[in-house]
Amino acid sequence: MHSFEYRNGSLHCEDVDLARVAEEFGTPLYIYSAATVLDHYTRLDAALKSLDHRICYAVKANSNRAILKLLADAGAWFDIVSGGELFRVLKAGGDAKKCTFAGVGKSREEIEYALDQGVHSFNVESEAELELIDKIASEKNVRAPIALRANPDVDPHTHQYISTGSHENKFGIALERLADVCARAAKMRKIDIVGLQMHIGSQITEAGPFAAAIKKVAPLVKQLKDKYGIKFFSIGGGMGIIYKRALESGAGKWWHDHGGEASAFSVGDYADAIVPPLRELDIQVLIEPGRFLVGNAGVLLTRVRYIKETAAKKFAIVDAGMNDLIRPALYQSYHQIVPVKQSDKIDNRKIDIVGPVCESGDFFAQDREMPPLREGDLLAIMSAGAYGFVMASNYNSRPLPAEALVRGDKFSLIRKRQTFDDIVRDELPT
Ligand code: LLP
Repeated sequence: MHSFEYRNGSLHCEDVDLARVAEEFGTPLYIYSAATVLDHYTRLDAALKSLDHRICYAVKANSNRAILKLLADAGAWFDIVSGGELFRVLKAGGDAKKCTFAGVGKSREEIEYALDQGVHSFNVESEAELELIDKIASEKNVRAPIALRANPDVDPHTHQYISTGSHENKFGIALERLADVCARAAKMRKIDIVGLQMHIGSQITEAGPFAAAIKKVAPLVKQLKDKYGIKFFSIGGGMGIIYKRALESGAGKWWHDHGGEASAFSVGDYADAIVPPLRELDIQVLIEPGRFLVGNAGVLLTRVRYIKETAAKKFAIVDAGMNDLIRPALYQSYHQIVPVKQSDKIDNRKIDIVGPVCESGDFFAQDREMPPLREGDLLAIMSAGAYGFVMASNYNSRPLPAEALVRGDKFSLIRKRQTFDDIVRDELPT
């Protein structure tokens, strides 16, 4: 489900007309629906109810503290990948004991900070990291709870940049090596082996790869449970969302949208595939969804600045750029784009929707069929709630956009738009 739909000819988020929010806070502007985030959380939680499970929200997908607080209040745990993310969770009222700390390159300072705060566990990606954690824990005379990250070598059929569970990636420890690494870890002074973790990739839109990875890692989970008494198996995140036809598909379906005709599979299908093999293991299951919880809960609102026609092409130049939402430029990813003012007409010429940044890669859509667009029109770039604002930058010295949260018929600013002063604030004169 998501809460974006046309009412009286204008795109609404829950009970709020998006045109009103744009008027009040300006564009480009990220807008999130609290009801959608909570609905996704609740549905996933319900689908996993026959397992002892914890949903650890992958903070990297959208780390605004208002979103973290929503999820913390709903009972979520957190999957963090940096000291900064831990800091944010704590600032949002979250609990370090409910944080799992992942990432291939944790620094000494981050490990110290996480130990001081008492995180639930570290997901460890290499022997070198294991040694450093043991060393720092020894210095502090505390115990460090860890879960080794297994690399199951499964192809998740997703974009190469967000595929993580094959041997060609930098992530995790190969299954064949894992028992040995565990044996080493067990001998270290301050390491407690408390779990096993894996994550095979992101925006995965079929259940097969998840089930295959669980099946491959299951014998090892059993072995580590018997030998070291591990308490949990974290199966990572990666559940995909609908990007194509995001606006029309409010019925809780996920869309299989790479190539060919779209076909859908639901949270229920996902649970049907993963719950039975996980139940057999009789162990607590951690799951680390990011995109699934917040992706379709957000849009990026942008206004058309200019229409430009050349012999070869027609362009709508909008006020958002690749610095605000980099996904199309970085992954050639598709985002549905709709006008805030509803229109049934289709322009007779396809159009490129591009930003003001000085790069040809600065586009949101190419050769897209759209209603006739005019200067000043408001557009909503759909499914921008995950990996949107968090990947934004000041490229071209453009201020970071603002963010707003809708709840029912109310909306509030959850991040101010940056000013030019903000952009230069941290620079020092020579
Ligand atoms: N757990 C681990 C260890 C991860 O590396 C990730 C994502 C997640 C969980 C959450 O994955 P999700 O449920 O959101 O798929 N910027 C890219 C996505 C990068 C994902 C990185 N890791 C994009 O815009 O598509």
